[in-house]
Amino acid sequence: MAERTFVILKPSCVSRGLMGEVIARLERKGLRLVQAKMRNISQEEARRLYKVHEGKPFFNDLIRVITSGRVMLMVWEGRSAVEVVRKLIGATDPVKAEPGTIRGDYGLDITDNLIHASDSVESYEYEHAIFFTREELES
Ligand code: CMP
Repeated sequence: MAERTFVILKPSCVSRGLMGEVIARLERKGLRLVQAKMRNISQEEARRLYKVHEGKPFFNDLIRVITSGRVMLMVWEGRSAVEVVRKLIGATDPVKAEPGTIRGDYGLDITDNLIHASDSVESYEYEHAIFFTREELES
């Protein structure tokens, strides 16, 4: 099976009408959208998702931003999907992200940086299971 990665289009991406643009970029690269759903993330889910950042100065802001509105939760598949999606997204800080990347083209705020994607296969295994059942991901 091709590698999979977990992606969240954050509330600002949804409210600014950038979902289509972001999805189009991933599709044009050749990645396949396996599953997607739109809803709000609960406080508990957000704390599980960002457990590695607990105790950091930006943790509370991170939880506030990701729970502030509807998000698009997605699983994408393709060759080296984790690395490829991270490259298309660009650096965590949109100010440092290269033009041509999603954060480089559409963002400015480091916490509200439009999109989240797993940074490793291990992170994918942990993160996607918070939001998707095994049955939902059978293709
Ligand atoms: P994301 O890919 O969702 O994963 C963790 C998030 O933490 C990251 O995007 C940023 O939104 C946020 N983050 C990481 N580093 C910082 C920082 N130095 N200041 C504020 N937010 C940060």
